[in-house]
Amino acid sequence: MQQGNFVKDKVVLVTGAGGGIGRDFALALGREGAKVVVNDLGASVAGEGRDISRAQAVVDEIVAAGGTAVANGDSVADWDAANRMVTQAVETYGRIDGVINNAGILRDRFFFNMSVDEWRAVIDVHLNGAFYVSRAAAPHFKSQGSGSYVHMVSTSGLIGNLGQANYSAAKLGLAALSKSIAMDMAKFKVRSNCISPFAWSRMIGSMPTETEEQKARVVRLQRMETAKIAPLAVYLVSDAAADVSGQIFAVRANEIFLMSQSRPLRGMHTEEGWTPQTVAERVIPALKPNFYKLDRSQDVFDWDPV
Ligand code: NAI
Repeated sequence: MQQGNFVKDKVVLVTGAGGGIGRDFALALGREGAKVVVNDLGASVAGEGRDISRAQAVVDEIVAAGGTAVANGDSVADWDAANRMVTQAVETYGRIDGVINNAGILRDRFFFNMSVDEWRAVIDVHLNGAFYVSRAAAPHFKSQGSGSYVHMVSTSGLIGNLGQANYSAAKLGLAALSKSIAMDMAKFKVRSNCISPFAWSRMIGSMPTETEEQKARVVRLQRMETAKIAPLAVYLVSDAAADVSGQIFAVRANEIFLMSQSRPLRGMHTEEGWTPQTVAERVIPALKPNFYKLDRSQDVFDWDPV
């Protein structure tokens, strides 16, 4: 395997790196000279069970290719465990330069049937987990005057999707957390960005393939390899991205996008104030042409991946 030095000697913690997109982040970072803490609980897609051998297998791959890595089997959804990951990075390699919040689970259910447990489990891993791990690394980043956070978000939150109220809310919350970190820590030269990936992993591998249309869609999706997300993530961790912060990118096979962030689209104002009736008569008819449809991610990204 060809070794590079794009992130030479940077110490990077990647959560949920025992498989899927995170595994490819860890392998790519290892190839580019980083010292990688490979975290993974080794859970099922629904977040059940644990098995550190999945993280260890990725470490073994990195080491076999001439890289440097260590495994961690803790859960991001636990504040003490999140601190242990960061401590492990600092005790093993002397510092921490990057955190990639990638660990994730799914508990899909239509909103009207979603249980409190399904809601909490997903918020705990994606939103609380990203806060815990980021917050645990923050004192190190602050005192050394450098550091890069990369958070995996989703068009399920940025755009919309059916049956994923817990996941969409967590991911859009994570985008706001990233922006807040970018603003609060800019004075310490600490950066925070999001990647919204599209990739064929076990997380979307359970899609139904009953109809011809569904089969064709899955064939298209399989072209979106998990390894295609890694170059942008490695770049964002590197010093080459020193002036990139507070952004949301999307990656789909060979396409990389900068996603928009919410800004006023159209306004109406009046000197005398509004009444429900004048809102109905004047505001809504003026704004309605600009209303958003109930788009799902696939309605917006409606062309084949390149
Ligand atoms: P994956 O299921 O292959 O990988 C997620 C990993 O996180 C698993 O190895 C799992 O064991 C680990 N994990 C789960 N709970 C954990 C916890 N509490 N602590 C530590 N590790 C834990 O899924 P994939 O597709 O690689 O997803 C990676 C990230 O990208 C996730 O945050 C996901 O939400 C996001 N994403 C993926 C998309 C895709 O198209 N695959 C689309 C949009 C977002």
